[in-house]
Amino acid sequence: MMRPHVPIVAIDGPSGSGKGTISRAVARYAGWHLLDSGALYRLVALAGQARGLDPQDVEGHAALARTMNVEFGVGPQGEEVVKLDGRDVTSELRSETAGQGASRVAAWPEVRTALLARQKAFVQPPGLVADGRDMGTVVFPEADLKIFLTASAEERARRRYKQLKDKGSDVSLAALSREIAERDLRDSTRAVAPLKPAPDAELIDSTGLSADEVVQKVLALGRSRSLWP
Ligand code: C5P
Repeated sequence: MMRPHVPIVAIDGPSGSGKGTISRAVARYAGWHLLDSGALYRLVALAGQARGLDPQDVEGHAALARTMNVEFGVGPQGEEVVKLDGRDVTSELRSETAGQGASRVAAWPEVRTALLARQKAFVQPPGLVADGRDMGTVVFPEADLKIFLTASAEERARRRYKQLKDKGSDVSLAALSREIAERDLRDSTRAVAPLKPAPDAELIDSTGLSADEVVQKVLALGRSRSLWP
C-alpha cells in the first residue's frame, strides 16, 4: 500500500528571526505537528554537559544524540515542557549558553547524522512544520513549502533580548548581539548543512513586521499551494 503524502512546511533562518514563534503559530493554525530542531541540538549540548563529556568529544556527543531520551510535552498552563533523560530542562534549554553549545556540536557531521532519524520521525499525519537551519536544504528537501525568514541583526538581537528578559534571565543587549553574531557566523560558514536558503525557498524579511503579519504571509503562501483552506 502506498503511504499517504504527509505535507511539510520548512521554516529556516538565523537566530532571532522569529522562526520559533511563526512555526508554532502556523502549526497551531493547520493543526499539524511541530519540530523544533534547534532544541535537539541544544539537548545534545546539555546532555554532554550533564555527563561531563569533554566539549571536544565528537563521538561521545554523537552517541548521546542517538541515545538521549527526549520528551516534548506541555505543562498544566499549556506551557512547553522539555525533559532530557527524565529531567526537566525547559529553562536551561532556552539559555544563550545552551544556544552556544548547540551551535558548537551542530558543526560536527557525526552529530547531524545522528539526529537525522529523530527529525524524520516527526513526519506524521496530518502534517509537519519544521523549524531550523537546514530543514529545507538537508533534512526535508522534499518539503511542500520552504520559508527562509530573516531580519536585521539589530532587530534579531533586540527580540532575543526581550525573550530572555521576559523569562527572567539577566542578559546584556551588547553581549547578546555579540554572541548572536558569533553564532550566525559559525552556523553559516560551517562545512556541513550551513545556514542558507534553499534555491526554492520563499524569502521573508520580518524586520519591522509583527509576528502576526509574518504568520499571515506564510499562511497565504500555504493557501496558494492548497496546504490548508
Ligand atoms: O534555533 P536555535 O537557536 O534553537 O538553534 C540552536 C543552534 O542549533 C543553532 O545556532 C545552530 O547551530 C543549531 N541548529 C542547526 N540546525 C538546525 C537547528 C539548529 O545547526 N536545524
